[in-house]
Amino acid sequence: MRNLYMRPPNSNIILGIDIGGTGIKGAPVNVQTGALTKERFRIETPHPAKPDAVADVVQDIAKHFHYSGPTGITFPGIVKNGVIYSASNVDKSWIDLDASKLFQSRLRGPVTVVNDADAAGIAEMRFGAGVGRHGVVILLTFGTGIGSAIFCDGVLLPNTEFGHLKIRGKDAELRASGRIREKKHLSFKKWAGIVSEYLEELEKLFSPELFLIGGGISKKADKFLPYLTAKTTVPIEAAKMQNDAGIIGAATFAKIRS
Ligand code: BGC
Repeated sequence: MRNLYMRPPNSNIILGIDIGGTGIKGAPVNVQTGALTKERFRIETPHPAKPDAVADVVQDIAKHFHYSGPTGITFPGIVKNGVIYSASNVDKSWIDLDASKLFQSRLRGPVTVVNDADAAGIAEMRFGAGVGRHGVVILLTFGTGIGSAIFCDGVLLPNTEFGHLKIRGKDAELRASGRIREKKHLSFKKWAGIVSEYLEELEKLFSPELFLIGGGISKKADKFLPYLTAKTTVPIEAAKMQNDAGIIGAATFAKIRS
C-alpha cells in the first residue's frame, strides 16, 4: 500500500501554517517560487485558543495534506528558538511554552515557529512587493493587532513588535489596527490619519526606504493608500501576498532554517 505520509520527493515543497486570531490556514508551498502547490485549507481558530486546542488544528491541517516533512508555523507573538515570549491577542498560557516542541509532537517532521509578521515580511521580500528593494524596509500588518518586520538589504531583524510602540501614550495597535478600525467604524480616511501619525513616528526612528502595508487590510489598499501617501516622504505600498503571506513566509523560513 502507498504510504500516504511519504515525504514528497521535492524537498522544496514545505508545509506552511499561519495561526491567526480567526482562522488557522495551511498549504504546501514551493519555497523556490513562493507558490502554493495545493489549495489552502482553513479551520476556525478554537476559542479559547489554548496550546493543545491549537495544536489539534495544526495536526488536522497536516493530515488534510497527508504531509510529512519540515513545517513552518507562524505565531502572533515574540518567538525565540521556538519558545513563545508574548501573547497580546491570544491565550496567555502560550507564554514561555516551547511551541516548536508542542507542534513537533503532533506532526511528522521538524517544526520551525516564526512570528506572523516576520513570516509575512519574508514572503513579501522574497516573492512580493519587497523584491529587489534595498536599504531599510518596514512591513506592517494591520489585523487583530499590528505586526511588524524590518529588513536591511533583505536581512530580517526578528521580533520587532512595533505594534506596541506608544503613540500619544497608547499602544499603536490599540489605536490603529484593523480590528480597531472595524470596532470604531472608522472611515478609511479617518483611519489613514491615525496610521499616518504612527508611520511618521516610525520614519523618525528608522528612516526607511519603503513601508509595506500588509495584513487583511491590504486587500483594500485602493481605499486608503491615497490618504496615507499624501502625508509622508517615504514611499508606501500595499503588500502583494495578502492572505497567503503568512503561509508562504512560514514555509520559506522553515527552509532557511533547515
Ligand atoms: C503581537 C505581534 C504580532 C502582531 C500581529 C501583536 O499584538 O505582539 O507579535 O506580530 O500582533 O499579529
